[in-house]
Amino acid sequence: MNVIIITGASSGMGREFALQMDAGFTNVDEFWLIARRQDALEQLAKEMSHKVRILAMDVTDEYAMDDLEQLLYEEDVTVRVLVNCAGYGLIGKFEDLDMEGQLGMLTTNCEGLTRLTYLCLPYMRPNSRVINLASSAAFMPQSGFAVYAATKAYVMSLSRALNNELYKKHIYVTAVCPGPVDTAFFDIAEKGGEMLAIKKYVMATPEAVVDKALRDSYFKKEVSVYSLPMKLFWWWSKLVPHKLILLFLRGLR
Ligand SMILES: NC(=O)c1ccc[n+]([C@@H]2O[C@H](COP(=O)([O-])OP(=O)(O)OC[C@H]3O[C@@H](n4cnc5c(N)ncnc54)[C@H](OP(=O)(O)O)[C@@H]3O)[C@@H](O)[C@H]2O)c1
Repeated sequence: MNVIIITGASSGMGREFALQMDAGFTNVDEFWLIARRQDALEQLAKEMSHKVRILAMDVTDEYAMDDLEQLLYEEDVTVRVLVNCAGYGLIGKFEDLDMEGQLGMLTTNCEGLTRLTYLCLPYMRPNSRVINLASSAAFMPQSGFAVYAATKAYVMSLSRALNNELYKKHIYVTAVCPGPVDTAFFDIAEKGGEMLAIKKYVMATPEAVVDKALRDSYFKKEVSVYSLPMKLFWWWSKLVPHKLILLFLRGLR
C-alpha cells in the first residue's frame, strides 16, 4: 500500500500539502494525516478525494509514536512521501519566554521530526521523498527568535545530511525554508513579542510556498527557498559574516 504521511496537516502549510498532493498525486492508496486536532483533520479529509487515515496525535508523545511504528509494520506500507510540517515558533527574548514553551520547540520541531523520519525510512523505496519544514530562520542565528531559529537550523542541517546519506538509495530529502508565511503560525508566535515589521512586506501564501516545495522535491533539490527576497536573504547570510548581521540586528530589536 502506497501512503503519504503529513504531520501538521490540521492547519497552514501541512493542510496545503495535503490538498495539493491529493489533487496532483496518482498511485497513492492512502493519506495519513497527523496533528492533535482531530476535528480539523476530519474537515480536511472531507475535502480530499483520496482515502484518508486520521491519526490525531502529538508528535512529541513517545507512546503515540510507538503506535504509529506498529501501524507501519502491520500495514506493510510503502511511504512514498513523508512531509514533516508539525511545528511552532515563539518570538521574544530567551529570558522573557517561558521555559516549557521553548523546550516544546525542541521536542516538536526537532525530536518529533527526527523520530518520525527514522520510523518511516525502512518503509521508503527508491524515489520516495522526505520534505522537512525548516525556515529562513535556519540561515543564521536570530536574536529575539533564538530557540526557534536554532531548531530550524537543526532541521536544515539534518535534512541536507540525510539527503546525502540516502542518495545511493534514491531517497531524496528537501528542507523547505520559507520566510514568513500567512498561516496560524503567528497566532502562537506573537504571543510573546511581535515579528519584525520588515517581515510583513515579504509575507508569502501557503499555496505558493507548498507549490514550490513540491516542485523542488520532485527535482530532488536539497533546499527549497520561495521568493526572491528570501533567496537574496539566503545568499546574504552566506556571504556576510554572521557577526556583522547580528550586530545589525541589535539595532532592530
Ligand atoms: N508560517 C510561517 O511563517 C513559517 C515560516 C517558515 C517555517 N514555518 C514552519 O512551517 C511548519 C508549518 O507551520 P504553519 O505556518 O503551517 O503553521 P500552523 O498553521 O500553525 O500549523 C502548524 C501545524 O503543526 C501542528 N502541530 C503543532 N504542534 C504539534 C504537535 N506537538 N503534534 C502534532 N502536530 C503539531 C498543528 O496542529 P495541531 O495544533 O492540530 O496539533 C498544525 O497543524 C512549522 O514547522 C513552522 O515552523 C512556518
